[in-house]
Amino acid sequence: MKTTDAAVLEEPKTRVRATEETTEPAIESRPRPRTGIREAKIYIDGTFYSEANAKVSVFDHGLLYGDGIFEGIRFYNGRVFRLEQHLERLWKSARSICLNIPMTRKEMTEALLETIRQNHLRDGYVRLVVTRGVGNLGLNPEQCKNPSVIIIVATIALYHEDFYRKGLSIVTVATRRSNPAALNPAVKSLNYLNNVMARIEANLASADEALMLNDTGNIAECTADNVFVVTHGRIVTPPITAGALQGITRSVVFDIGNELDIKVTEADLTRHDVFVADECFLTGTAAEIVPVVKADGRMIGDGKPGPITTRIIERFREMTRNTGTPISD
Ligand SMILES: Cc1ncc(COP(=O)(O)O)c(C=O)c1O
Repeated sequence: MKTTDAAVLEEPKTRVRATEETTEPAIESRPRPRTGIREAKIYIDGTFYSEANAKVSVFDHGLLYGDGIFEGIRFYNGRVFRLEQHLERLWKSARSICLNIPMTRKEMTEALLETIRQNHLRDGYVRLVVTRGVGNLGLNPEQCKNPSVIIIVATIALYHEDFYRKGLSIVTVATRRSNPAALNPAVKSLNYLNNVMARIEANLASADEALMLNDTGNIAECTADNVFVVTHGRIVTPPITAGALQGITRSVVFDIGNELDIKVTEADLTRHDVFVADECFLTGTAAEIVPVVKADGRMIGDGKPGPITTRIIERFREMTRNTGTPISD
């Protein structure tokens, strides 16, 4: 696998390009970059491509069956935050679905860092995807001999700063989190339809996020975030067995709690626990740590981000600025 000297493929200067140009909207001479980067370079199996040319086969089982895994990773101030933990989780997801990642962890680290370097950003988001690869239309993964690795770097601004100051409003949705015996939420797979369905319900209810319950009616997580409540100075989050992803940001909250002498524990939680909590917040790589001030129309605490949430956010921001794997050699 080569990463450092892999060329960025030029967009074809052929009739295909000419046809594309005629279908672009009249008000823009070029489509807006989806990554937010003007000359983005996207890694696919050892080669860098421009956004327009970064394509996978229609026979990739990642597309046909959601058969694959991914990680969302952040880098701040020239360092990748908790990279080792993300790779550890990626490898566990792969093992669980019997997917052979076609490179070592060291090679993956280098490919990821090189992709960030190629995109000349110091702060941003990385989407790391491993698909089952190209097969035929049957779902048997034995058809797919070569898993594909895709690394996309992007700028990110998930929630406006106002949300961190004022807090989110969430609603409990009817769509239950997948039963671990059917599709374990601990596997970060490309099959996110369960989460997408919940997200649609939140959108229809004009809420900022969806609170997902498990089959027993306890809280599992939100569509892309773990959930925490604060009561009498103690922080509680559902256990992974409740149907939550083993969030990396979630684990950072445990570390911060330890550091600041705030007790953080796992326990089954119901909607009632959220309604009567003093504070509530969500954690995720993209969302970071974001306060929740309303759940199912009920105000949480006094309807403002609470003091413990605010301290956790402040410490988290310090950690993201000062720790992580350096991007440059
Ligand atoms: C379903 C789900 N839960 C929780 C999380 C939060 O995990 P992390 O903090 O590792 O991003 C994510 C995002 O990765 C997610 O997709």
